[in-house]
Amino acid sequence: MSKSITVSYEGKPCYDILLEQDFGELIEQVKKLGYQPERKICIVTDSNLAELHLTGLEQVLGSYFHTIITFCFPAGEERKNLDTVQDLYQQLIISHFDRQDSLIAFGGGVVGDLTGYAAATYLRGIDFIQIPTTVLSQVDSSIGGKTGVDFLQYKNMVGAFYQPRLVYMNLSLLQTLPEDQFTSGMGEVLKHGLIKSASYFAWLKENYNGIRKLQPDIIEEMVYQSCLIKRDVVERDPKEKGERALLNFGHTIGHAVEKLADFQLPHGHCVGIGMAAACKMSRDLGHITADTCDKILETFVQFGLPVSVADMSAEDIFAVTKSDKKMAAGKVKFILLESVGNAYMNPELTKQQILSGILSILNHSGYSGGIEEE
Ligand code: GLY
Repeated sequence: MSKSITVSYEGKPCYDILLEQDFGELIEQVKKLGYQPERKICIVTDSNLAELHLTGLEQVLGSYFHTIITFCFPAGEERKNLDTVQDLYQQLIISHFDRQDSLIAFGGGVVGDLTGYAAATYLRGIDFIQIPTTVLSQVDSSIGGKTGVDFLQYKNMVGAFYQPRLVYMNLSLLQTLPEDQFTSGMGEVLKHGLIKSASYFAWLKENYNGIRKLQPDIIEEMVYQSCLIKRDVVERDPKEKGERALLNFGHTIGHAVEKLADFQLPHGHCVGIGMAAACKMSRDLGHITADTCDKILETFVQFGLPVSVADMSAEDIFAVTKSDKKMAAGKVKFILLESVGNAYMNPELTKQQILSGILSILNHSGYSGGIEEE
């Protein structure tokens, strides 16, 4: 099994996304990109992944490259900042990395975004390869060239659009992904169906068992279909001037919840809560029926995603939502559903409409996320 997708940028083929079950093709692929063995490689990874899979990757790369160094930082969103980028620059300088050398982002979204930003800025830009290892990074953050770090209390506030040379996935690594990380990634996967493809959303529901059991053919198909959706969007709108903003479905309220929870809830879980609010707002505007809205939320719960949050106030969530960087002329740009598989941007919601969506996801009886709640 193996699949590939080419992503174009500004009308020209730019990089391939490869879906593999191991690292067997990696060296062939880097050779195809013209990487010579003398080229220095820095693997950037985090403490969680390093423990499990770093040696395997180092061995594969070591069979071809003469110089491989590793930059490993403690796992977690709190390290996605300029201090970590600065530490990485220092290591690259000490190891005499020049413009011919390359970074490899080996990890989830935090590693990919941070490595991409370092690659975009070190010596005004050096090559980097994405090896995403979580569902979230495979279907979303490794594709489309968004790189960056959090700054002060703002998520992804400092960054650059910078395209990788290759996105290489070893899907077998998902077998060791912690349960909550898998569920978190499913938030983005379900989002793809809701915003772009009703048939994909239905397929995800039909294949729930295969997905939960991590059946390799089903997982490959799921990641492939999600990557196709993401690829099509970023090719049409690489710099988020319009359509790409639809990928932020559930993220405006989701980011607010994530921040108010001090980043202690996984990103996709917060997106699940934000999507639940957006679905209810879409229902209240008469776009989708109450029955459709309930069925969508049931699907989130089936996949282990929370649809409500405890111990937060609607006013607090609203205030953080308003400070979201996705505002236009002081208005929050909400992504809502016209129908399942068809999202649109609504910048005209009143405070009352937004508060009503937020109130609908507040749960004062306790937080109800996690697969164990099923
Ligand atoms: N993760 C949303 C985007 O890539 O635009």
